[in-house]
Amino acid sequence: MTLLQVMPAGNAADVRVRTTDDAVIAAELAARGITFDRWPALVDATATSSDDLLAHYADRVAQLNDSGRYKHIDIARIHPDDANPEWPAIAKGAREKFLNEHRHAEDEVRYFAAGRGCFYLHLGEEVLAVVCEGGDLLSVPAGTLHWFDMGTRPDFIAIRFFEEEDGWVGDFTGDRISEGFPTLDELLTAS
Ligand SMILES: [Fe+2]
Repeated sequence: MTLLQVMPAGNAADVRVRTTDDAVIAAELAARGITFDRWPALVDATATSSDDLLAHYADRVAQLNDSGRYKHIDIARIHPDDANPEWPAIAKGAREKFLNEHRHAEDEVRYFAAGRGCFYLHLGEEVLAVVCEGGDLLSVPAGTLHWFDMGTRPDFIAIRFFEEEDGWVGDFTGDRISEGFPTLDELLTAS
């Protein structure tokens, strides 16, 4: 379930908004200049190849990219693989990559075809935690302070849109703010 939780940047315990209502989430994000959209999710996305997923979403991708702004469109996917003894280390490494506050020179545009991940947007005096699930499209504007948590058991498929090949590179602020906020796992278990 898509979830939005809004907290002051200085006090994560003071939850101002917590909602799973898509319309409210879209309105709260739009009010802050953040693009959020829903595309119908494919039920068996996990069993679908990346090429077939891109083909399935070709029309919507083309519509989103009608200006030709995004030169590189690909799919990032990670699924639990408990049969692989390396999986815990792979999961930990993947998760820690973007767990600290950073920004990018271009918009970070992601469509979640399946699974979930949480973007934390640090907008001035507040932090918005947006748990995206299959069907959610989120665009984090260039320069926006944010971090991303895929949880202790990473499992998602995301279409990524880049203007430059290295558009995913993060400029890390060195601020430890993310440590004071609930993780994705904690957000999902909170009532
Ligand atoms: Fe990022």
